[in-house]
Amino acid sequence: MSSNKKFCETTKCLLLILVTVAAVIAIICVITFSDENLREKRYEKADLKWWQTSIVYQIYPRSFQDSDGDGTGDLRGIKERLGYVSGLGVGAVWLSPIFRSPMRDFGYDVQNYTEVDPIFGNMADFDDLMKEAKAKNLRVILDFVPNHTSNDSKWFYLSERGDAKYKDYYVWNDGLNCSSGCEATGGKRPPNNWLSVFGGSAWKWSGIRQKFYYHAFLDSQPDLNLRNEEVKEELKNVMRFWLQKGVDGFRADALKFMFESKNVTQNETGLSDPFAWNEEDNHNLTTNFEDIYGILKAWRKVLEEYGSDKFLIAESYGISHDVRNKYYESGSIPFNFALIQYLNASCDAQCMKSVIKESMADLKPSYWPNYVIGNHDNHRVANKFGPETIDAFNMLLLTLPGTPTSYYGEEIGMRDTFYTYSETKDPAGLNFNETLYLEHTRDPERSPMQWNDTFNAGFSNGTPWLHVNSNYKVINVKNQESAKYSHLKVYKQLAELRQKSSFTYSNLTFVDVDDVDENPKKILSYIRTQPGQDRYLVVLNFGHLYANDVDLSKSAGSKRGEVVVNAMSNYQVNTEVDLTRITLSRGQGLVIKVK
Ligand code: NOJ
Ligand code: MG
Repeated sequence: MSSNKKFCETTKCLLLILVTVAAVIAIICVITFSDENLREKRYEKADLKWWQTSIVYQIYPRSFQDSDGDGTGDLRGIKERLGYVSGLGVGAVWLSPIFRSPMRDFGYDVQNYTEVDPIFGNMADFDDLMKEAKAKNLRVILDFVPNHTSNDSKWFYLSERGDAKYKDYYVWNDGLNCSSGCEATGGKRPPNNWLSVFGGSAWKWSGIRQKFYYHAFLDSQPDLNLRNEEVKEELKNVMRFWLQKGVDGFRADALKFMFESKNVTQNETGLSDPFAWNEEDNHNLTTNFEDIYGILKAWRKVLEEYGSDKFLIAESYGISHDVRNKYYESGSIPFNFALIQYLNASCDAQCMKSVIKESMADLKPSYWPNYVIGNHDNHRVANKFGPETIDAFNMLLLTLPGTPTSYYGEEIGMRDTFYTYSETKDPAGLNFNETLYLEHTRDPERSPMQWNDTFNAGFSNGTPWLHVNSNYKVINVKNQESAKYSHLKVYKQLAELRQKSSFTYSNLTFVDVDDVDENPKKILSYIRTQPGQDRYLVVLNFGHLYANDVDLSKSAGSKRGEVVVNAMSNYQVNTEVDLTRITLSRGQGLVIKVK
């Protein structure tokens, strides 16, 4: 005490010390917890969860491998091919829905969430698949469809018949009185103008219940009433059922449609077409309700009952950053669809850079990024941007920060397949006429996997549910495994490369090439590294012309590098490259280790 007095006796002095100590603590806190500092943090693989260092590989089960000759892919087929899948260097498979379903939307219309559809096999096949996946160190992610069921589900059957337990499991409404032309709907008309994503009114009359029910998608996909506590419990138990079987997480379908306004007297305004649902319109009464986040948090708790490393990725088209952040805060990862939604064939390198930057903007370090370039609802890369860009897009996807998701066949550059109107199976196409179906059908990107150049590309001994692409003799896994250079080989090299700690998150620094490139911009370039690690320069030509002698040495901080992956160019892997003069044509790309 006495020595303290000597050191600082006055109140003023004590106050000064207090303020200084508080300031130092505040500064330490800011440095430790600030976003910037976290960005600089080095991420070691051991500190990361499995889904942070894995590529997710999406399998559309109907189209991957048929094992029983019925023309539709199945679980045994997938199991047989897991060796190939793990050989790609991916860490997880996501299976589009495998549950019992009348297949009107090919599994996204679930009849029973805890049963395997017979077309895919049975529960023993699923258990075998899980065993094999674990043995191969592959994680398994299931598709979870919480917004709607099939109208063939027991829940809907009982709900439609007014069963005491189930009557409020769906969104029912009496409708409005209608003076003429409504004989088929009990003299009623829908309560409002809300639209179904697949076209037309989102309300369907039930003659049995004498009410309308709401369906965001097909009228055979009634929306569940997620304000009903029992429905919420049912869904949590579905998750538990599969978690107990050892699945590693879920891809959750159509989450933004989970809630609609309680007030059904209001119409949505400003719709660009009164009959067709349009992503760009403001669907404020039928999408993106805050209630979604409570549900997500509850699901995260369920996942945590089974461990702290379960994965939950949410389908999330066209969401604002604010909404994106709320998905993150609620324990899920919203799919980043920027590369699917906002790029088109005329997008030059500058445009691609802005799309990537915009999708990363305001992304807190704790919000793990992810990228995806294709899925079962979107045309394939080769068709959207040209076959010459296949490797460049895989190079982009696999060198961006975060978790990439690859759609089956992307690794071999599969193309969309053309189906005539009469061959078309997708209801999203068949809801339109022969002139318009091509704008809506998703069959082209769902054609069977091309394994080899034998009958049906090795997919099936029977008649495939969608015929295989006629290019299968050239584009197939077997050819690409034996070729000296192939999309498949580039994919595998990239998958291996991204395991290096320079790629395990942290910074992405865009390299400024504007000064050496004219308009439109051709070269997209960035550096991936972490403190104390190798620096990798990614250079991609997304322009339409040759980029000649581009000087990247200033931004790279060196004139020399070594090519580690080559996409389509004349440069050779393992050779030295002069960073003052890089020449690439459209679709060519390089990953260079800077010396
Ligand atoms: C999104 C799925 O990806 C799509 O394939 C499906 O048709 C709709 N949700 C409805 O479930
Ligand atoms: Mg089969």
